Amino acid sequence: MDGNGRWAQKRFLPRVAGHKQGVEAVRNLIRVAGESGVTCLTVFAFSSENWKRPEEEVTFLMELFFKALREEVEKLHTNGVRFRAVGDISALSADTQTLVRGAESLTQHNDRLTLNVAVNYGGRWDIEQAVQRAAAAGEPTQFANYLSFADQPDPDLFIRTGGERRISNFLLWQLAYTELYFTETLWPDFGETDLKVALDWFADRERRFGKTGEQVRDEAQKAVA
Ligand code: IPE
Ligand code: MG
Repeated sequence: MDGNGRWAQKRFLPRVAGHKQGVEAVRNLIRVAGESGVTCLTVFAFSSENWKRPEEEVTFLMELFFKALREEVEKLHTNGVRFRAVGDISALSADTQTLVRGAESLTQHNDRLTLNVAVNYGGRWDIEQAVQRAAAAGEPTQFANYLSFADQPDPDLFIRTGGERRISNFLLWQLAYTELYFTETLWPDFGETDLKVALDWFADRERRFGKTGEQVRDEAQKAVA
């Protein structure tokens, strides 16, 4: 979710106004994604590297996450959303950790949409922590089972807003076969139509996973026959 700061600067507002508006875009996206048949949605809210930002901005982002989760958790639950936080949560305030754990346990049996919020997450951090935990358990070659998303499907579609063409330490391992979609739209402006355009683009991809196009089309034909 990139482009909050630029969205605000274009309006001569402080950067944090963009983050606030960004939360509205997330709220809307969760609804629209659910209606579009998406069953698993992961949003990158705060990276392991975002701590390097000015202290006031970091504080604002942490408070915004806390407030948004506190306000939304009941609604997420009523709408069948399973909430999960991914990342090194231990660095967040004690209140936030309690709220996160509460939201996870409240919503754990919901199955309409899984919403992963990546906070203090980094793809490299994830690989490192998985390697360490796998080694400690005596299963070094099974390290992928210890990654944050081990029990979830690999993402089909990756969307980056804000015009940059990079992954910026998001899901590194899991993106191996993901379709990568980049849009100039700034995150706070990303709405229903933008998601539809991205999903339509995705629907036109031929996913081969290393096979030839011919093999893939043959298999698809056999599956419908
Ligand atoms: C993304 O928007 C939000 C977070 C990283 C929390 P930015 O804050 O990176 O917005 P730009 O890139 O400065 O426009
Ligand atoms: Mg940015």
